[in-house]
Amino acid sequence: MSRNYTITIANEKGGVAKTTSAVSLAGAFVEMGLRVLTIDLDPQSNLTLALGHKPNTGTLSISDILLKSENISNAIVPTSIENLDLVPSNSELGVAERFLPVRKNHDTILRNSLGNFLDYDFIILDCPPALGAVTLNALTAADMLIIPTQAEYFSAYALKNMMAAIRQVRSQNNPSLIYRIFITMYDGRNRAHRTLRDQLQTTFGNDGLLKTMIEIDTKLRESPIVGIPIMHYVSKTRSAQQYRAMAEELIENVGELEQKQFAKPA
Ligand SMILES: Nc1ncnc2c1ncn2[C@@H]1O[C@H](COP(=O)(O)OP(=O)(O)OP(=O)(O)O)[C@@H](O)[C@H]1O
Ligand SMILES: [Mg+2]
Repeated sequence: MSRNYTITIANEKGGVAKTTSAVSLAGAFVEMGLRVLTIDLDPQSNLTLALGHKPNTGTLSISDILLKSENISNAIVPTSIENLDLVPSNSELGVAERFLPVRKNHDTILRNSLGNFLDYDFIILDCPPALGAVTLNALTAADMLIIPTQAEYFSAYALKNMMAAIRQVRSQNNPSLIYRIFITMYDGRNRAHRTLRDQLQTTFGNDGLLKTMIEIDTKLRESPIVGIPIMHYVSKTRSAQQYRAMAEELIENVGELEQKQFAKPA
């Protein structure tokens, strides 16, 4: 593939499966034979941990790239899964919200650091639950933003701020940013969930809302402990199948958007 396609996973709301989706989509892409780089942009380091890497163990981290202009190639670590690499974060990133805005042209630091030289099919950015300088960097670096949301009133309401952030980033440094919302932790037996799903469908339509939904699956709570994606942990569990379907849907979307052919699984 000629170019890294960058997918940013963000939502100001906490605990909506951003990190779970970053790991699981990465796992699904890798299963298809694609090469994936994941980048942890959260000082909580949940993505780093979920991919089996201990933060603060002396390797470079994303804060060295954002705050100290280190070359990103030097911060990439392998994971136990072939073709799945990671740029870890650590608690140092906590100061980024304060110090990043001091830097010149700070919104484009991450995009410039990714450049066009990395040898991956997909780069997946996992954001913290905030709409600060770090998330704005990730939206500026993105080809596509994907927004996990629960089918709950407060989660749907929080999308308003996400839409405002998209407008801001489009008007500043990334006019071609596209977004897709998707529903996580869905329970089809719950009437409120079905109602919210219908409302999201009406509001955002087929271009804004992914068809694939991720249902509740407690196995997803176990896979970070093992430090591998869900499909490498329990291949046939429901959420593994759903994240595979989502990966295929995203590739179709990208293909339609860029009229580019990606490799399909055998
Ligand atoms: N489909 C699912 N079914 C059941 N549990 C899930 C599902 N998706 C995620 N979870 C669980 O929900 C919790 C929050 O998920 P996760 O950490 O991925 O969210 P997040 O948006 O990254 O949170 P934060 O905002 O803190 O970064 C975790 O315990 C995770 O295991
Ligand atoms: Mg997270």
